Amino acid sequence: MVKATKIFKVNAESPDEEVIEVCARYIREGGLVVFPTETVYGLGANAYNPNAVKKIFIVKQRPMDNPLIVHIASFKQLYEVVSSIPAWIKDFLVKVWPGPLTAVLPKSKRIPSEVTAGLDTVAVRMPLHPVALKLIEKSGVPIAAPSANISGRPSPTTAQHVVEDLWGKVDVIIDAGETIFGVESTIIDLTREPPVLLRPGPYPVEKLREILGKNIIIPEFARGLSEADKALSPGMKYRHYAPRTPLILVELKDYTDLSTLTLKIIELAEENISKGKRVAILSSSETAKTYLKHLGKRAKIVVLGSRNNMYSVAKNLFKALRDLDKLNIDIALVEGFEEKGVGLAVMNRLRKASTKIIAVD
Ligand code: TXA
Ligand code: MG
Repeated sequence: MVKATKIFKVNAESPDEEVIEVCARYIREGGLVVFPTETVYGLGANAYNPNAVKKIFIVKQRPMDNPLIVHIASFKQLYEVVSSIPAWIKDFLVKVWPGPLTAVLPKSKRIPSEVTAGLDTVAVRMPLHPVALKLIEKSGVPIAAPSANISGRPSPTTAQHVVEDLWGKVDVIIDAGETIFGVESTIIDLTREPPVLLRPGPYPVEKLREILGKNIIIPEFARGLSEADKALSPGMKYRHYAPRTPLILVELKDYTDLSTLTLKIIELAEENISKGKRVAILSSSETAKTYLKHLGKRAKIVVLGSRNNMYSVAKNLFKALRDLDKLNIDIALVEGFEEKGVGLAVMNRLRKASTKIIAVD
C-alpha cells in the first residue's frame, strides 16, 4: 500500500492553524499522521477507530501484542479513555502534564482492544508540544501513537528520520524540526502499588517520587538489564534502537574517575584497528580529547554531549545511533553514563541498542 505522503513544515511554537486543521481531518477520516512531540515523532491515528489503529501496526511492522500510547489534550479526554481513577492519581497528573510522562491506568470501554493489545489498562500521555496538542484538539479525538519508526529502529527525532522509515506509508508528516528531549517519555504503571517504572525517560524517576510522595519501583528491565516481564510491560521485551553496526557498550560502576573507561575503550579500539576494522567511538565531551590524543584519525569520534548535562546526551543519542550506519565503519564503541536523572533513560536505550556490554571496575 503506497501512499502519496505529504510533508507540512510548521513552526514548533505557533503552527499554522489551517495546516493543523487539514491534518486533523486526516485523523478524523481514519488516516495516519506523523506529528512531533517534545520527546520523539509519533505515528498517529484516531484512538477510537480500530481500523486506523491496525494500520499503525502494519506500516510500523509492529507486533500486535505491543500496545500503543493514547495522546490526549485535556483532562476531559482523560476521563473518556480511563475508567475511574482515585483523586491522588488525578492530583499527580495535574502536576506532571502536559509533559514527557506516560501513565498506565485502567482503560475505559471506549478504547478499542487493538490499542491496548487486549490489556485492561491503557497508557496515556498529554504531550508538551504545541503542534501535538493542537492536532489532538482539532481532531476532537485522542490520538494513539507509537514512535514513528520501523519497529526495532531508533526513534525519530527529526522529520528526516521519519522519511527514512515511513515515506510512502503514511498520509502526512508534520515537520516542526528537531524534538526537544530526543528520548521517549517516562512510563509508570499507576495500577500497581507501589507504582512501577516501565521505561525511564526525560521525566526523572527521582522527581516523580518526590511529586507522588511514594516510592516507585525500578525493575531490572527498566534499566535495560533484562527482558521485561510480559505481564508488566508487553512491549519492553523487544530488542530496540539497534543500529546495523555492531555496538559495544563499556560501563563503569562508578563514573567519578573516567580513566579506566577511556583506557578500556582505547584498548578495544586498538585491538579492532589492528584487525583492519574501521572503528567509531561515541563519547562524552569530557573524554573526546583523550581518544583524539591516543588514536588520532584512526578512529571516528562522535561526541554525544556532556556528562554534566545528560539532557544533551539524550537529545543526540538516537541521531547518533542512526548515523552510525552511515559512517562507513565496522564497529562502534560507546561510553556508559551514570544512571542518575535522565542518565537512566540513556543507559536503558544504550543497553538495548548494544550487541555486547563490557563492565569494567
Ligand atoms: O515519548 C513517547 O512515549 C512516544 C511519543 C510519540 O509519545 N511514544 C512512544 O510509543 O514511545 P512506543 O509505542 O514506541 O512505546 C510505548 C511503550 C511500548 O513499549 C508499550 O509496550 C508500552 O509503552 N505500553 C503501552 N501501553 C501499555 C500498557 N497498557 N501497559 C504497559 N505498557 C504499555
Ligand atoms: Mg517505539
